[in-house]
Formats: sequence, structure tokens, C-alpha cells
Amino acid sequence: MSVTRKDRRLLFIGAGERADDWVPAFAAQAPDVPFIVYEDGMDVGAFRYAIIWRPNPPVVTQLSNLEVIFGMGAGVERLLGDPSIPDRIPIVRMVEPGLTGGMVEYVLWQTIYHHRRIWELEEAQREARWVNQYYPAPWERQIGILGLGQLGSAAARLLVEYGFKVKGWSRSRKSVDEVKSFAGAEELPQFLEGVEILVCLLPLTADTQGIINAGVFNQLPMGSILINAARGGHLNEADLLQALGSGRLAAATLDVFHVEPLPEGHPFWLHPRIFMTPHNASLTHPATAAIEIKRQIERHESGLPLEHVADRNRGY
Ligand code: NAP
Ligand code: GLV
Repeated sequence: MSVTRKDRRLLFIGAGERADDWVPAFAAQAPDVPFIVYEDGMDVGAFRYAIIWRPNPPVVTQLSNLEVIFGMGAGVERLLGDPSIPDRIPIVRMVEPGLTGGMVEYVLWQTIYHHRRIWELEEAQREARWVNQYYPAPWERQIGILGLGQLGSAAARLLVEYGFKVKGWSRSRKSVDEVKSFAGAEELPQFLEGVEILVCLLPLTADTQGIINAGVFNQLPMGSILINAARGGHLNEADLLQALGSGRLAAATLDVFHVEPLPEGHPFWLHPRIFMTPHNASLTHPATAAIEIKRQIERHESGLPLEHVADRNRGY
């Protein structure tokens, strides 16, 4: 039986996310995948494909013919944690060049910001103070990346190209040129040794929840830096404030938070050594995502396995 355009309809189930950029992106890049925005009361029983960022249980339970959920982002912990999504439905993580490129750019930007202690220069300028600032060469600076997956390994490659010393930590051993790979909980202490700028690009799972804590900070050299671009749940916020207070950490860049938007009055807002971005370290780019989803739908239709399917047991 041949597949029709109607069979390829992709249902966009937003929860506050705007579809405005997605509709023209699909029309231009994947015209044979009709992009349909969910509306209250819509009959969704025939849809085989859906794209979701945050779960919307009442709608998902009506999707009786659903074959694939495309996560709108790389992190799918909320979809995996939604009991209304049956285990039989594969959840595909977003892996697309726009999202990877944005994260690589963010990590390089923030690494250089801290490597050059640009915040020190900004403070000095505000006080009309001329400082004689020393900073090491990139190859004298040790960067450590927690999570050497799609994003972590791409960031590692760019940092190496830029000249930094880079090591990475993951569950399984990796082979990324000039990046020393550490694997598993037992190698975490060796990985942390000497790391001056710690970048987190882990998925949020039962094993990684709260992983950036005092135990980790105390293994870093004094005056280290944290860049958390993964999930707020990775970080013990009280431990971060304490590490900044003791000088164990000199500064931190945070893109993600336990509660988003960060509540009014939260101590991070006005902390002089916390630099924040509003969970936009990287964004899924509708145009490149449309090409990727079309590619995956074509694989699925021709009986090939989907790629980047989240593993329910691992939690990512
Ligand atoms: P990925 O390809 O699945 O990579 C995850 C990496 O973490 C893998 O290297 C994995 O090891 C490692 N890992 C997982 N659990 C571990 C554990 N218990 N111990 C050690 N290593 C562990 O994911 P990705 O596409 O790179 O995305 C990573 C995360 O970035 C997402 O889950 C999301 O939370 C976050 N993110 C944030 C933004 C933002 O704008 N802030 C944007 C996109 C993504 P193995 O390779 O051995 O499996
Ligand atoms: C964004 O946070 C993502 O997971 O893609």
C-alpha cells in the first residue's frame, strides 16, 4: 500500500511554543510532510507522527495510530517521564545541525569569556579601572566536558581546533581526536582532576540528577568555572553558591535552572559571578529540523530503523 501525503502529516502539539516559524519551514523544506498545528477539539486519531516539546497527556492518549514522537529538543526527559505515552511509541531525540551548531557556538563563546576572564574586564571598565590582566594560552587551559554525545563531542572538537586542552566524560569510552576520554562513575574523579572550565552537556536522568554538586566542585582546582548548558536538575544550586563563596569556583555560566523562568528574587539573578542565559544556549532550527524529520519519516516508511531513538531504560 503506497503512503500518501496525508499519512505523513506531522501533528505539532505545543504547550506555549509558537508554531509560527515551523509552518513555513516545513512548507519550504519538507512540503510532502504536512505540518498540522493541534487545536482543541481536533480529531487526532489518524495521525502517525507528532512533534512535542512538553507532554500534553490528554492529547497523546487520543493518538491511537501514533507511530513516532519527535522530541522538539535534544533532551527528552519530560517525554520519557510521561506515563500517558505508551512504551511502544519510539521517542526520537532532536539531532540536527542548527541545534548542534548553536550549542557549539555557545560553549566556545562562554569558554573564551571565562578563559579571558572578560567579566573581570567588564567590572574594571565599569569602575574606570585599567587592569594588567594575564591569561594563559588556550593550550594551557584544561576544559572538561561532562557528556560526550552529539553536542558534547561537537563542542569538544571545536575547542580542540581552537587550541584548548579537552577531556570528556561519558558512560562509554569515546574516540574523539585529541580528546582524552573518561568513562563511567569510577573514572569521574580522574576526569575532574585539573579541570579549570567544566562544561555540562549531559542528559537529565536518574543517574545525572544533582551530579554537579559540592563533591564535584571540591575536586576541581581553586578558581574553576562551571558552564551548565544541559538541565537545571543537574546542578545543586546551594552547593554552587557555596563554591562561589569559597572561591572554589570563580564564576559560573548557567543557561538552565530548576525552575524556568528563574523565579523573581532567586539569588542567581543578582550574583556578580553568575552569568545567565534564558535556556537558549541552543535552539532547534525549524528549517534544518524539517529536513531531519522528513529524512527520519522516509527511513521509517521504507522499513529502516529510526535514528536517535531515546532508550527508556537508560533515560536518554
Ligand atoms: P546525547 O547525544 O544523548 O549525549 C549524552 C552524553 O551523556 C553521552 O555521551 C552519554 O554517554 C553521556 N551520559 C549519559 N548518562 C551518563 C552517565 N550516567 N554518566 C556519564 N555519561 C553519561 O545528548 P545530546 O544530544 O548531546 O544532548 C545532551 C543534553 O543537552 C540534552 O539531553 C539536553 O538536556 C541538553 N540540551 C540543552 C540545550 C540548551 O539550550 N540548554 C539544547 C540542547 C540540548 P554515552 O555516549 O556513553 O551514551
Ligand atoms: C533544549 O533544551 C533541548 O533539549 O534541545
